[in-house]
Order: sequence, then structure tokens, then C-alpha cells
Amino acid sequence: MSNPLKIAVAGLDETFGPVVTVFVGKEGAVAPSVAKRLGKVLSARIATAVAADSFQAKSGSALVLPAEAGLGDKPATLVLIGAEKGEGARDFLKLGGQIRAKLPANRDVTLIAALPDGDMAPVDIAEMALGMRLAAYKFDRYQTKKKPDEPEQKNTAVTLLAANAAAARKELKVRDAVYAGVELARDLVNEPPNVLTPGEFARRAAALEKLGVEIDVLGEKELKKLGMRALLGVGQGSAEESHVVIMKWLGGKDEKAAPIAFVGKGVVFDTGGISIKPAQGMEDMKGDMGGAAAVVGLMHTLAARKARANVIGVIGLVENMPDGKAQRPGDIVTSMSGQTIEIINTDAEGRLVLADILWHTKQKFNPKFMVNLATLTGAIMVALGQEMAGLFSNNDELAANLAKAGTATGEKLWRMPLGPEYDKIIDSKFADVKNSGGRFGGSITAAQFLQRFVDGCPWAHLDIAGTAMGSPQTDINKSWGSGFGVRLLDRLVADNYEA
Ligand code: BES
Ligand code: MN
Ligand code: ZN
Repeated sequence: MSNPLKIAVAGLDETFGPVVTVFVGKEGAVAPSVAKRLGKVLSARIATAVAADSFQAKSGSALVLPAEAGLGDKPATLVLIGAEKGEGARDFLKLGGQIRAKLPANRDVTLIAALPDGDMAPVDIAEMALGMRLAAYKFDRYQTKKKPDEPEQKNTAVTLLAANAAAARKELKVRDAVYAGVELARDLVNEPPNVLTPGEFARRAAALEKLGVEIDVLGEKELKKLGMRALLGVGQGSAEESHVVIMKWLGGKDEKAAPIAFVGKGVVFDTGGISIKPAQGMEDMKGDMGGAAAVVGLMHTLAARKARANVIGVIGLVENMPDGKAQRPGDIVTSMSGQTIEIINTDAEGRLVLADILWHTKQKFNPKFMVNLATLTGAIMVALGQEMAGLFSNNDELAANLAKAGTATGEKLWRMPLGPEYDKIIDSKFADVKNSGGRFGGSITAAQFLQRFVDGCPWAHLDIAGTAMGSPQTDINKSWGSGFGVRLLDRLVADNYEA
């Protein structure tokens, strides 16, 4: 929502600002290109300061040297950041977050992006910049009073001096699109449920039109016509109209080639319905649209960086409320697929929403594969905690590609089982299937339910209940809504499905 960091890239020969941040290794080592740029006096000053201090030059550690003349005769504060050689892009992302935490507030900063043992690659510089911006994200739209212990956050201009500025700038532009998608997803998750109704969510998704995304917003009349009675049943106790939004980004070489599809659970608030949840922590259920938020954020990123792929995004937007008109346990609804569903628990609503939109996506677009994201079960947190999302799939290649993208981005996935033994647990006495299989294996039986609605399509389900919101703070995320899934799936597309 708000971000005090503005980041630009310049060449190593550009002028310094009043705060200069330099990567420093053990014994005060700086890259030869940087030593040359700083001159003998400053390089010696850095080496002396490092020797005198207990500065360990561990990744992300910092030492601040007060302003002193020597940088083109202008006084400047030196911030030394400890750096070790990392083993991949994720480390630079994390390092960016760590640096952001060390930057002085409200001072323009020049960061010299070269590791102690040599110049940084343009991609690594861009990842570091992305990490800095992700760490600086703040959702403060509804805070009218400043907190006394927080320094005022005005704009801070960070200039990254790079050996190859043009290449770094190009990489940074791609990361701008990634940042914007994550920011959008975080905003949506953080917004309160009285503001972010299904209608308002649909309007915010429809705003992607300006990036060239084709948008189709369906209301209750159209959903009824399509036969989406499983989805509509969830929203029938709400005063707010339910919606489905279809987003199309056709950036592939051949617009007619089969697309790939991403599908999101968008329960804007989950009271549990008639099977109402306990009061404790219920406010967190404003984040039960984290799957839909990730899909919208992803579509934003793909369109903004003009991804060369045909991608469909589909989100189901409903509010799950108790009411005289609300759905009951015992009700039987007919889904769009024709399969009948016995409602055992109105709090197992996400799978009902997904059942209809997965089916619709398969029938309408016949995609190469579908990946759905959903804050689906509390059980996935019992299994995996809040560090990894659950991955369920009927296709080993898709599952492997997803897991790889998870490792690369740090949005980690852990594969969970599927199988006929679990599937039979959700057979119903009165209908084709029931919407709850009870407590044991709760995240698995939920996934089995979804699988009955994918019609044989290669598919993966990501249960992000633990990772989309309220997950442990990291170097690159200080926000309640994490935006989990945007970077992961952007990477999946970039590494495997772009021409
Ligand atoms: N939205 C919840 C799952 C959830 C719980 C997400 C906590 C994030 C944090 C989902 O709709 C739900 O209520 N699931 C039930 C299913 C049960 C009734 C079969 C659950 O997990 O308890
Ligand atoms: Mn629920
Ligand atoms: Zn839910």
C-alpha cells in the first residue's frame, strides 16, 4: 500500500549521496572496482573501522561510520554491510531485506552493489532491490495517527551503483512487475472485509484491464445460468452478491494455443456459516481470499512484464455468513459438474467454491494444466506449520516444477499424498460426495474433494492456509498478508512455460 523506498540504478562512476552503503567482506575487503572508486583514503578508513570493531562481515550485519569528508569532498555517512558470497538468487533477495532494515530513515542512500570479491551480476542486484522493496511494504491505509516510536517514513531514494547499470536496470524492470503483483496481493489480503466485498474485489481485479488483461465479471444471474450452485450456496446467506472473475492474458506466440490456468479461492470473509466458527481469531478470516489475491497479483505481474504465455486466472468471490437464508448442514446441492454434494459442515466452504470454478475452467478453456490456490484447511497448518504450503497433484511433472519454483523463490511447498483410500472417506450416504471427511487427514480429504472436479486435467492444489497470512515475519515480509504464491507462480511460468 505504501512503500517509502524508491530504487534506481546508476553506473559506478555516478556521484554519491549523503549516505553510502558498501558491501564489505572479512578484514574490510571491498571489490577492486569499488576500492578504485572510493580511493585509497576511504578504503583504508573502511579497513581500519572493520579491524577496530567487532564487525563480523556476516551476511546482513552492518556498521555505520558517521559523516566525514572524503567522498568527492562532500561529507557522507558510510554504512558497511557484511556480505558473503551467496548460493543463489534467493540469498540476494534476503540480503536486500536485511539491508533495508539497516538503512537510516529518511536519508537518500547510495548503495554500491559489488560483493567483496567482485562485481555483482545484474540479476543479483535486481533480486536485492526486490528484497529491499518487499521488506519496506507497509499497509497503513487505515492508520490516521503516527506511532510515537516509529520514525516518520518519508520517501527514501536508493541509488544502486552497478558495474553494468544498463543490464541491472533491465532486470530491475522485470522485478518492478513482480513487486507490483506481490503488493497488490498483500493489499487485498490486508483489506478489511467491510471494504473488500465480493463486488469490490471484482472491481479491483477488473482494473487489470489497463494492463491488457481481458476481464469477464460474472454475477449471480450468470452463475445460476451456468449451474454453479455449489458456489452460490456458500454465498446465499450473505447480503453481498457473489461473483466469479475470469482474467485472460494472451501473451503467447500463438493466441490460440492452449492456455495454462490459475484458480483462486476468494472467500472475502469466512464466519463458518451456520457451522459458525468460535469468536477467537475470527477476524483473521478476512484473509480467506488469499488464493484469489495471489491469482490477481500473479496476473498483474505477468501482464506488467508482458509474459510470453497464454494464462487464464479464475477467482470465485463469496462471503460465508449465517443467516435465515444461509445454507444448512444436511442440504444437498447440485454442482456445475452435475455431481451432487451433501453439506456436512458449512465451514468447509472453500472446496464448494473451487468445485464449480475448477470445473468451469476445465470445460471452457481446456487448459494444459490448472493450479489452484486456497486457504483451504486448518489441518494443513497442523501438518506443515506456517513455513511451507501443502502441494497436492495428480501430475508428477507439474508437481516437480512447482516444488522447484518453491525452492528457487523461498515460497516453499511440501508434497502431500492423494489416493483412493482417502477418496472413499468423502463418499456420502445421500449424495455423490460430502463436503467434509472429518478431522483425520483433513487437508488430504479436502484435496480429494477438489480432484473430483478437475475432470482428469493435470492439476495441482496449493493449500496456503498457513502461508498466505499471519505467517512468521521474514527478512522480506513484515506484512500480515504475505502475498504468498505470486513470486512462486511467476517463477513457474518464467522457467517452464514461456516461449
Ligand atoms: N478458511 C478455513 C481454513 C482456514 C483456517 C484458513 C485457518 C486459514 C486459517 C476453511 O474454510 C475451513 O473452515 N476449513 C475447515 C474445514 C472443516 C470444517 C472440514 C477447517 O480447516 O477446520
Ligand atoms: Mn470455512
Ligand atoms: Zn474458508
